[in-house]
Amino acid sequence: MALPARVYLNGEYLPAGSARISVFDRGFVFGDGVYEVIPVYGGRPFRLTHHLQRLDASLASVRIPNPLNPGQWHDIFRELIAEHGAVDQSIYLEITRGAAPRDHAFPAAVTPTVFAYSQPLAYPAPEQIRSGVHAITVADIRWTRCDIKAIALLANVLMRQTAVESGCAEAILIRDDRITEGAASNIFIVSGGSLATPPKGPFILPGITRDLVIELARDHGIPCSERDILRSELFAADEVWMTSSTKEILPIVRIDDRDIGGGRPGPALQRMLELYQDYKHALRKGHAE
Ligand code: PDD
Repeated sequence: MALPARVYLNGEYLPAGSARISVFDRGFVFGDGVYEVIPVYGGRPFRLTHHLQRLDASLASVRIPNPLNPGQWHDIFRELIAEHGAVDQSIYLEITRGAAPRDHAFPAAVTPTVFAYSQPLAYPAPEQIRSGVHAITVADIRWTRCDIKAIALLANVLMRQTAVESGCAEAILIRDDRITEGAASNIFIVSGGSLATPPKGPFILPGITRDLVIELARDHGIPCSERDILRSELFAADEVWMTSSTKEILPIVRIDDRDIGGGRPGPALQRMLELYQDYKHALRKGHAE
């Protein structure tokens, strides 16, 4: 995927090649910052209120004040989105604690760095949606604040790379014999027509896509529970899905070389994809957020 042409950095819109941050930025030196990824359909950001709330929660957890109010964020998004017209996009935004002499403890006075851009949304290949993707299980090697959308993603990078080197699209993370989430997604299982996904807490990112899938299930009479899921339940499930802002909902049909649900996407996924598309359609028309 090509780099975006224009970015927002600290109050300015700049050609990407001219945007500069300090080599002493704590995001660069310590990974001291947070981020969001927000899909945009028909020019409208998807679940913007939820994304800005999660951003506020991440910022509060790492004690960086939000440098911008919601109106200012909206203005930046409008400007970045307009550049690509009506094509579906994803906004990336990042806030770091800012530039200061290297010391682990917070600097006394520092101005956060604010960076954002929008680019055309890279949808999964239609074949991945039609036929499903493969995954592996790996030990979840992360810390106990996975609920913060932190830019320090080294563990996630290593776990995803292990999946890619095994010819798989995602790594499903296991902690104490239970599923937490994917390296960059949340995980659902379907058993006997019921959905289940691990509960919110310190071990998963509270995904915005995950929340919508739960909401759509509840609104349409599909049983759905947030509960601990044992690793063994993955292999016994009728269907396994991964969800994220950029992948939406993808079926996982093979895990650790074992077929799930006969190795094909199942009927519950078809139903949820319809509900999800309906929701996006309503959003494009301005009837949903
Ligand atoms: N990642 N869990 C992790 C660890 C993630 O990185 C992501 C998303 C999710 C799903 O969250 P949401 O539905 O809000 O996108 C769960 C983004 C897309 C990324 O890092 O690119």
